[in-house]
Amino acid sequence: MKIIAVPNYEALSCCAADIVEAQIRQKPDTCLGTVTGSSPEGMYRELVRRHREEGLELSRIRTVNTDEYAGLSGTHPQSYRYYLEEHFFRSCGIPSEHTAVPQGDAADPLKECRRYEALCRSHPADLQILGVGHTGHIGFNEPADDFPELTHLVDLAPQTLAANARYFDDPDTMPRQAITVGLGVLMRAKRILLLISGSGKAEITERLLCGRIVPQVPATILRLHPDVTAVIDEDALQLV
Ligand code: GLP
Repeated sequence: MKIIAVPNYEALSCCAADIVEAQIRQKPDTCLGTVTGSSPEGMYRELVRRHREEGLELSRIRTVNTDEYAGLSGTHPQSYRYYLEEHFFRSCGIPSEHTAVPQGDAADPLKECRRYEALCRSHPADLQILGVGHTGHIGFNEPADDFPELTHLVDLAPQTLAANARYFDDPDTMPRQAITVGLGVLMRAKRILLLISGSGKAEITERLLCGRIVPQVPATILRLHPDVTAVIDEDALQLV
């Protein structure tokens, strides 16, 4: 794993945008594995700025997102589809038909998992963006006894529910489950760009980089991938 240490979130966002931009300039029809949350938000903002002010062309990329809350439709303001439309797709002219997010409100979630797994297999990511949750989850692959390989319906860990409740006006309405790609999809990405910021992530960063590779800390599996670049700010690196 290549580690790029940066002073703060702003530098992390610029560095991540540089890596994504270089990838897209080299391959304009790049398949970008997307992720949501606070970690990549600044990177999306910077990509939107470069699209508007510097003419960075993004309309030919394809995107496949890692996860979605179970039960939420894509028009729900807390859904990941909504997040991506707001923060990235709409402002960059990326057509919806080039983008994929699991359908959170599918009538049959298990059937949706199978559909999404097949879609991911036919669109492997050239560059997969990732953040890491406090539990060590990537996508929504929560700690478990085994590394989950396939797209699945997952019960969110209590720590994850607590961390993400801030996004919901009424935390009681927050979904307890999500549809997430498995680690098979993530590990098949050609390259991975991992973003970690803030002192709240210091403990999990230390476990991710220095602890044993175990399914109880799912992100540790990334150390087995041949091409991971982790951009980490000083606050997140303070225990390493
Ligand atoms: C979220 C998402 C993940 C994300 C992670 C970290 O809940 N499902 O895909 O990478 O948790 O989120 P954040 O970047 O907001 O800390």
